[in-house]
Amino acid sequence: MNAPVHRIARRLFASHFLVVLAGTLVFALAAYLRAPVAFENHMETMGSMMGSGSMMPDQLRGNFLAAVGEILLVSGISAAVAALVASTLLSWRIVGPLRALLAASQRIASGDYSRRLEVSSDDELGELALSFNTMAEKLDQTENRRSELIGNVAHELRTPLASIRSMMEALVDGVLPADAATFVDVQREASRLERLADDLVELSRAELGALPLELNQTDLGTVVDNAVQRLRPQFTDKGIDLTLKLPPGRVPVNVDTDRIVQVIVNLLGNALQYTDSGGRVQLETEVQGSTAMVSVTDNGIGMAGPDLDRVFERFYRVDKSRARTGGGSGIGLTISRLLVQAHGGTIAADSDGVGRGSTFSFTLPIS
Ligand SMILES: Nc1ncnc2c1ncn2[C@@H]1O[C@H](COP(=O)(O)OP(=O)(O)O)[C@@H](O)[C@H]1O
Ligand SMILES: [Mg+2]
Repeated sequence: MNAPVHRIARRLFASHFLVVLAGTLVFALAAYLRAPVAFENHMETMGSMMGSGSMMPDQLRGNFLAAVGEILLVSGISAAVAALVASTLLSWRIVGPLRALLAASQRIASGDYSRRLEVSSDDELGELALSFNTMAEKLDQTENRRSELIGNVAHELRTPLASIRSMMEALVDGVLPADAATFVDVQREASRLERLADDLVELSRAELGALPLELNQTDLGTVVDNAVQRLRPQFTDKGIDLTLKLPPGRVPVNVDTDRIVQVIVNLLGNALQYTDSGGRVQLETEVQGSTAMVSVTDNGIGMAGPDLDRVFERFYRVDKSRARTGGGSGIGLTISRLLVQAHGGTIAADSDGVGRGSTFSFTLPIS
């Protein structure tokens, strides 16, 4: 399994070693060829200085050349040994981190996302380790979210399914009367399952960023009005006063009308659901510089500080039993946030505390 790394180590080693070997050989050859000429020249100058003018004996020359040969052999072998040691060390310095990378990526491939690499240098290998770690972190998060989602979905499915099963059992046993009221209860649970499935499809598409946005130049007031028309009857039915506050004139935005209507309907639906009869809900649109802000304020049940951020998480509900009667699955705000973000805006929740109402507002860039 470590064959490729071994090959790289061998190649690095061989190339280092060859460079040194070539250098040593050229050095030796040049020295060997040049030595007799240099010796001759120096002896001549020495002879003329001493005035004898005679040529040096052949024996002396032979001894000199033998000495040069010996020196070259010894220094050549020493250089080769030093090169051997140096290139082994260098090769392993490069191959060491690669080995660690190989081992860690094999662990990841086998499903263990916890492995991180030690970043020990600031060169390309260090950068590689760093980006490997980032990738591992992302994979780890995705994997966690995936298994969390499966757990959540299973949990969400279990409740309506259990209640359908127990109603059916009661029907079979004759404990529940086979009348319209019973069937309506079963129908309601089935609808909840259907809504959950729809929400999940929408959520997974929005999370993938795969929701196609059909952007249109439009007036935000018209979009808001559109959303209000859809829910107005339900506000009237529950006896909640819904007021609309729009700025004078057009607020030009470039949005997917259906999606922004969906966001506003989600916020208004929540305000309707979490406000008691006789309450008030105000929908306001403001322009602040180059952004437009839409806010839905109710005087309903409100929420505590720590819940303010969490309500945008998937399946998060502040009060599960209360949300359940209204059939909420805790995905509405998650989808709303993804949709707003896809339009380049932000969404936030605000509340003065439990029982003191809430405000949900989102921004959109003005075009
Ligand atoms: N206007 C509101 N007032 C109080 N609580 C709210 C309001 N809107 C949302 N919440 C809280 O946020 C949770 C998540 O909202 P949402 O994602 O729309 O899910 P759902 O409405 O399906 O429960 C709700 O369960 C509720 O606890
Ligand atoms: Mg909701």
